[in-house]
Amino acid sequence: MFKNGTDNRRAFLKKSLAIGGAAGTTMLASGAGADTPDPLITEIQDWNRYLGEGVDSRPYGMPSPFEGDVVRRDVAWLTADAKASVNFTPLHKLEGIITPNGLCFERHHGGIAQISPEDHRIMINGLVDNPLVFTMEDLKRFPRHSEFYFLECAANTGMEWRGAQLNGCQFTHGMVHNVMYTGVKLKDLLAEAGVKPSGKWVLPEGADASHMTRSIPMEKALEDCMVAFAMNGEALRAEQGYPVRLVVPGWEGNMWVKWLRRLEVGDQPWHHREETSKYTDLLGDGRSRRFTWTMDVKSVITSPSPQAPINHGRGRTVITGLAWSGFGKIDRVDVSIDGGRNWHTARLDGPSLSKSLHRFYHEFDWDGSELFLQSRAIDEQRHVQKTKNALRKIRGENSIYHNNAIQTWHVKPDGLVENVEIS
Ligand code: MTE
Ligand code: CO
Repeated sequence: MFKNGTDNRRAFLKKSLAIGGAAGTTMLASGAGADTPDPLITEIQDWNRYLGEGVDSRPYGMPSPFEGDVVRRDVAWLTADAKASVNFTPLHKLEGIITPNGLCFERHHGGIAQISPEDHRIMINGLVDNPLVFTMEDLKRFPRHSEFYFLECAANTGMEWRGAQLNGCQFTHGMVHNVMYTGVKLKDLLAEAGVKPSGKWVLPEGADASHMTRSIPMEKALEDCMVAFAMNGEALRAEQGYPVRLVVPGWEGNMWVKWLRRLEVGDQPWHHREETSKYTDLLGDGRSRRFTWTMDVKSVITSPSPQAPINHGRGRTVITGLAWSGFGKIDRVDVSIDGGRNWHTARLDGPSLSKSLHRFYHEFDWDGSELFLQSRAIDEQRHVQKTKNALRKIRGENSIYHNNAIQTWHVKPDGLVENVEIS
């Protein structure tokens, strides 16, 4: 039987060589076409010879060991303490628009709270007719909804304001993730409590050691906020706020309070503790931009990129990346290979959902010369991503937050890629 299989493979090899030859393509994988046969095709391999592990070997599945480098990474010097820190989504290794749960970047100010769902309570108090306390069981008796949303930290790409800094889209753009949340609508919970006419703001509070709080205007709370207990079909991960977090679609990540334990209704915004509320943008003239909640239109080429160089040489090459906007859907993405002189309309692929990541591709024939790759996203409200210099003219260089500028990757003739800035 094995011999037959080998014979079949030999026949297949001959046939595919013939087809490849006829088409005159240069696309064949290395080795095919050479006189020496490829043992990976002609010889029986171990995985083809021996039985594999059984269904009882991994009750909760993990990625293939060959994908061991596809992990969240942090930058040690960015923050003083790992408990008040951030790590980054490996965007350069992902496909489609969904971020796997184990790869969602984490940002917490007081470490990961471990809370048993039986011990968790959510309180609604303040300017409401009936102050309420919910258990997780109570919460799940309200109508449930599922929606895909991106979450982007306001500090994403913050290190790049002053110049090209970090060598990899994981580090420059990896404070974003995109999952399907399941939960209940905040407006349903607020209706249950009965918001008084004077109630104009909602204060969500976290149960973690950072006691994170935020002020959210009532219109947003009623528009599309969710109290979510699941991501991508399973319970939230502890890192993402298990057992329950607030989802604030399209708005900066710090408002998406994790380990949510209380929602207070008030008539004005609260004053927040400095270390969790400094998300204001300092402008060039010293004034600051406060309450910049919506995440602007943005995109980045994820491959090729510094951590995903071109290994295959010249010829057929795929450029891919992600685009998103807190204002809705992405309408169009343009890609340039010459630093913004010429633009090509990229191919959007996969679901196009409001306030969710979009996947784009641009296929081209690389002639082996150096490239300056850029992408420029346009959302359905006609917001257009700007160059770094255009953004600096508006916002100055003192800001850390809300950098949605066009990113440039320099591809060298050897296929290696570097983070650069061009004027
Ligand atoms: N909620 C609590 N309770 N504590 C926190 O430290 N960090 C905020 C927000 N919610 C935080 C929190 C910040 S700054 C961001 S960007 C997002 O959570 C990150 O969400 P993630 O860890 O799921 O990526
Ligand atoms: Co943040």
